[in-house]
Amino acid sequence: MSRTIIVSNRLPTKVLRTADDELSFQASEGGLATGLGSIYRQEGNVWVGWPGLFVADAAEEDYVREQLRHDSMEPVFLTEDEISDYYEGFSNSTLWPTFHYFPQYATYEPAHWAAYVAVNEKFCQAVLALAGPDDTIWVHDYQLLLLPAMLRAARPRATIGFFLHIPFPSYELVRVLPWARELVAGMLGADLIGFHTFGFMRHFLSSVSHLLGFAAHNGRLEAGPRTVLVDTFPMGIDYERYAQAAVSEAARQHEASYRQALGDIRVVLSIDRLDYSKGIAERLRAFEQLLLRHPEWRGQVSLIMVVVPSRDQVAQYAALKEEIDELVGRINAAYRTMSWTPIHYFYRSFPPDELASLYRLAEVGLVTPMRDGMNLVAKEFVASKTDENGVLILSERAGAARELSDALIINPTDIDQLTAALHEALVMPQAEQARRMRAMRSLVQQYDVFAWTDLFMDRLAFAKQQQLSLH
Ligand code: UDP
Ligand code: G6P
Repeated sequence: MSRTIIVSNRLPTKVLRTADDELSFQASEGGLATGLGSIYRQEGNVWVGWPGLFVADAAEEDYVREQLRHDSMEPVFLTEDEISDYYEGFSNSTLWPTFHYFPQYATYEPAHWAAYVAVNEKFCQAVLALAGPDDTIWVHDYQLLLLPAMLRAARPRATIGFFLHIPFPSYELVRVLPWARELVAGMLGADLIGFHTFGFMRHFLSSVSHLLGFAAHNGRLEAGPRTVLVDTFPMGIDYERYAQAAVSEAARQHEASYRQALGDIRVVLSIDRLDYSKGIAERLRAFEQLLLRHPEWRGQVSLIMVVVPSRDQVAQYAALKEEIDELVGRINAAYRTMSWTPIHYFYRSFPPDELASLYRLAEVGLVTPMRDGMNLVAKEFVASKTDENGVLILSERAGAARELSDALIINPTDIDQLTAALHEALVMPQAEQARRMRAMRSLVQQYDVFAWTDLFMDRLAFAKQQQLSLH
């Protein structure tokens, strides 16, 4: 039987070390893990990836491997140097800032590049040990850009798909990378390369043309002896899961207790990993300005802001944490009263039923990234609004804005516009909220993560069939 082998840097389960030195297992955050989490268990599929922790001894590795195998996962363990140079280094200090249009944060360290090549090779060996000749290999995201070509070299006839979950930037940013050619060539080992939006795909094709001289026509890229298909697949969520979680007994109970604590306060909600791409500081400035310009909202509206710890060993992330702490402290100190807190700030992750109750509780979902491949939180907020109340404010620079055009679409650097959108959301008539929410819900329901996977897999099978008939 042929299976799909999903490969990504991070597994959907992460291993943590507790205070008394025990290992514990927990769901990973981040759109890739949560989005694909609903589909990978089907049909004997396997997910290959890093469990998110340095594991020192062989006995512990065996224990982790055994636990994860029960749940169809195959761990790739990274050494401390690899975590530092490949994960925190090349992946998150070179590629992430460059691809999210923050080149001023990017570092260019040959040692990080060497580790990136070595770890992609390590993943290649792990996949080859597992994959049979008929299996489909589906590689995900920027940490593994070289893997498709490495797999192709070892298995010329393998079926290999690649999907990029983050933006692919303009060639003007890509060309700054000393290793730009190798990275783009690495992706071309796949039979099908997918992006969230047409814009990302166009930028990729432009980079391929500039760096390697290969041209594309109608999504077919003539890459030397091989034809590679390139296409857009805007990722969806498990709509039913979120819609059902929103009305579950657990979510209702949490909501009731939050409501009791908050009183009559109206809630604006934001949820992200702590990341400079998410526009968290700008959002706080807009909320502060709302309280300044519209004093009528003081004592009436609170921002609940969930910030999930992420990549905290990378300098820019640690600096952003300080900036956010400072901003929240300043705004709360300036405006709070004995009975009202402007910003409820949580620096931790929440379990799914508590997230569901927060989505229910909020009247306004505030999603303001500077750049985002898709942003699944925006779609989860919409799916959770089973009563069709609520307004989504969404950055035009999130991939999700291409689909969710009934949100209030804003430019996240324009604090005035963001402030105005917050006010508009708070006074929007119920009928208009319902009209917009209904349209967005229907889209998120139709293009869910199962439809997304089917589309990608069908297209990949087509790509392979075409290649076999051509060569
Ligand atoms: N998330 C989570 N626990 C939390 C907060 C968020 O699992 O406490 C999830 C959230 O539900 C969403 C994902 O993390 O599915 C974030 O994905 P998104 O695409 O919005 O952004 P990313 O983190 O991938 O950049
Ligand atoms: C984004 C990336 C994923 C990544 C996730 C969490 O969604 O596209 O590849 O897994 O962020 O980041 P982390 O560094 O914790 O894996």
